[in-house]
Amino acid sequence: MAMAMAMAALRAVLLALLLRSLPSAGSSADSACAVPPDDRFDCGPERLLARAGCEARGCCYVPAGPGDGGGPPWCFFPRGYRSYRADNVTATAGGYAARLRRVVPSFLPADVGTLRLDVALETESRLRFTLRDPARQRYEVPVATPRVSIRAADLLYGVRLRQDPFGIVVFRQPGGQVLLNTSVAPLFFADQFLQISTSLPSRFISGLGERLTPLILDTAWTKVTLWNRDMAPVPQVNLYGSHPFYLVLEDGGSAHGVFLLNSNAMDVLLQPSPALTWRTTGGILDFYVFLGPDPQSVVRQYLDVVGFPFMPPYWALGFHLCRWGYSSTAATRQAAANMSAGRFPLDVQWNDLDYMDAKRDFTYNKETFRDYPDMVHDFHQRGLHYVMIVDPGISSSGPPGTYRPYDEGLKRGVFIRNATGQPLIGKVWPGPTAFPDFTNPETHEWWHDMVRDFHEQVPFDGMWIDMNEPSNFVEGSQDGCPDNSLEKPPYVPGVFGGRLQAGTICASSQQHLSSHYNLHSLYGLTEAIASHNALLRVRGTRPFVISRSTFAGHGRYAGHWTGDVESSWEQLARSVPEVLLFNLLGVPLVGADICGFVGDTSEELCVRWTQLGAFYPFMRNHNDHGNRPQEPYAFSLAAQDAMRRALRLRYSLLPHLYTLFHRAHVDGDTVARPLFLEFPKDPNTWSVDRQLLWGAGLLITPVLEQGQTKVSGYFPAGTWYSFTGDSTIHSRGQWILLAAPLDTINVHIRAGHILPLQEPGLNTAESRKKGMTVVVALTPDGFARGELYWDDGESWQSFEKGDCTEILFLAARGAVLSQILRAGGHLDGILLEAVTVLGVPSAPQRVLANGVPVEDFSYRSDTQVLRVSVLLPMWEQFVVAWS
Ligand code: NOJ
Repeated sequence: MAMAMAMAALRAVLLALLLRSLPSAGSSADSACAVPPDDRFDCGPERLLARAGCEARGCCYVPAGPGDGGGPPWCFFPRGYRSYRADNVTATAGGYAARLRRVVPSFLPADVGTLRLDVALETESRLRFTLRDPARQRYEVPVATPRVSIRAADLLYGVRLRQDPFGIVVFRQPGGQVLLNTSVAPLFFADQFLQISTSLPSRFISGLGERLTPLILDTAWTKVTLWNRDMAPVPQVNLYGSHPFYLVLEDGGSAHGVFLLNSNAMDVLLQPSPALTWRTTGGILDFYVFLGPDPQSVVRQYLDVVGFPFMPPYWALGFHLCRWGYSSTAATRQAAANMSAGRFPLDVQWNDLDYMDAKRDFTYNKETFRDYPDMVHDFHQRGLHYVMIVDPGISSSGPPGTYRPYDEGLKRGVFIRNATGQPLIGKVWPGPTAFPDFTNPETHEWWHDMVRDFHEQVPFDGMWIDMNEPSNFVEGSQDGCPDNSLEKPPYVPGVFGGRLQAGTICASSQQHLSSHYNLHSLYGLTEAIASHNALLRVRGTRPFVISRSTFAGHGRYAGHWTGDVESSWEQLARSVPEVLLFNLLGVPLVGADICGFVGDTSEELCVRWTQLGAFYPFMRNHNDHGNRPQEPYAFSLAAQDAMRRALRLRYSLLPHLYTLFHRAHVDGDTVARPLFLEFPKDPNTWSVDRQLLWGAGLLITPVLEQGQTKVSGYFPAGTWYSFTGDSTIHSRGQWILLAAPLDTINVHIRAGHILPLQEPGLNTAESRKKGMTVVVALTPDGFARGELYWDDGESWQSFEKGDCTEILFLAARGAVLSQILRAGGHLDGILLEAVTVLGVPSAPQRVLANGVPVEDFSYRSDTQVLRVSVLLPMWEQFVVAWS
């Protein structure tokens, strides 16, 4: 039966192919050049062409606009420009295949004349198509992709091929909306230049990190360059990570996504028609199309391919304190002591390079950090955790026998090699350095050994992996780079610095799996995998790794901080879309340096940043050396109060946050969410990126501007209760001006949700033992639901092993009850101490807890809030009823 359906679907595709083949361009040059400016695709991508050069390519030359990439190209492809022709369509096990032949040579060196197209109908909502050279194995990104499972019935998409010029069209079923159409511009597949364009069904496109940009990208001639780079975030340049995935919101609120599994340096060009061009410098074209149809499903379908996020330890969700410039154990201890003296919650104390001996990894300064192991032990005694920085560059200049990581690494052949087969030597903090090749399994073993040996001295709890683009203070290497086509490809994407080697190592250096040219943007990911695995082996519990450099799939192993942001209001505001973007990219554990990293902060900025930071999934205050101190205790008492409130608010919400991370880990959900993920049918939400949701039920509206004590936020249609319970918004889908004095961040609970809270402690070791509250935000007809996931907070695969508790909360008809779905312990001894019900229309006369009358409750008719004090075991089911 399934087989017959698969064959029927296949026949439909083949028939569509035959019916849709287009004749080649036969029209006159003039009409072929009558292309509206917004629809023009660049025919001179690698250099600016004058009329003669342009026309020699068979292209149209019409000077219009700036001509420098900021507007329509002056030299563009005419309609019907021929490139590849498709023939020989055959059925394959998972879909079908075709042969593509280049009809006329392109203007680039080393065309691949014959290509093989494979189209795989992988699931109802996921299509994959690849273009490869059938004659030669080219580099492919070394990530495991899921097994294909064909289910031909009820596909959410249909596919058509166009024959000459070749194009592939993917449309939505039912409805027929075209989501992808590559016949809008010619295909290129040369050795170092692969280009394919598509129309977009709307201009609401997000993704394509990492950039400093609004959440919705600008389609007015924007070039997004992907090539990982150590670069303090500024607009329009390539930053630390590469994620060739986008999500488009369509009219009506459907969404789809496209992932190009390719790690080479690339540009992604957006133009107003709207359309998008992928232009990459190597590898193959390996596309996934995700049909949603809602945006959250698109994210999940993408994560089905690249991996669901790892489950962080509970303590990782607490507050982290760091700076460059805690120059001794005494200074580091003092910072932690000041936090506790000021009654500020703190879970994790960090050190930057300061702890190292001569800035070398896996060493520590035996004078300034003489009692380093004791310091970390002492932190542990107080319920704190400890994380330190580790850079990938391994100091290579000491005499043999003086620095084990290098000696051992040399012996085991773990370093990236230059053209002569020797370790490539660049320069980072310690001076001359070699770069471990994390695509080599032996490097993972060596890295593990170094982590283990250091951990035997200093029992750290997590790793902060920095400088892993990899960053290099000399261009290429100390000896420069060879003169070859990998260093100087025929097309160089718009990388900052203009050359691939700028700020990093030579593109033609050799790694175990391939050249650095192909693998560069995977450096941070591969180091994150090695660090994650090393920590798991050494500590045996859930690894905690925060990395600067990332690639698609990173969230499975590690989190991310957004690098060297400036202490400015602009960068405070831009941190919201960055955090939302990384959640769409499957890296939910993300945050910016609270109060800013580069430059001095101000008290007001730092207060506002701490309030917003309390809602970053990863909350760390980190500061550059030499800047004015910005720990919470460094400010006036009023500012300290405001920061303490923000921290306590976060800590009270940690059971909910942890549950959201669990959902991300097991279901591929987002933790911090843009409004459009929950309200895709309301187009007003699409570009909101100055607010964020936690899960589906909590809306955060931070102040992001100086001197403001009011803030405007968008409230999708429905009922929203202020977290404090003192006001309610019944929105028709409106912007609402909220009071926001300096000590307040606006947080609203969406009607229909139940959140588990816990009394804050000074760290999570304390708070995890405290009493809980459930806040029930009723819909106008009296319903709500929520959940709690709980385990010991740190064991490896607690959920997978069933060593956890899952509780469902339901409210209806004047009662809220808990239902224990899985009773795996760890909640024993924790009491439910209060139930707060928002939206109770009239004063209850009596309240019962598990059938027993409760005396201690209060109701306010002005706010419609019912507060009930109880003492009920959380590990048993309960019912609290009011009438
Ligand atoms: C660059 C990192 O982005 C920053 O956070 C760190 O403080 C410095 N390197 C020094 O390690």
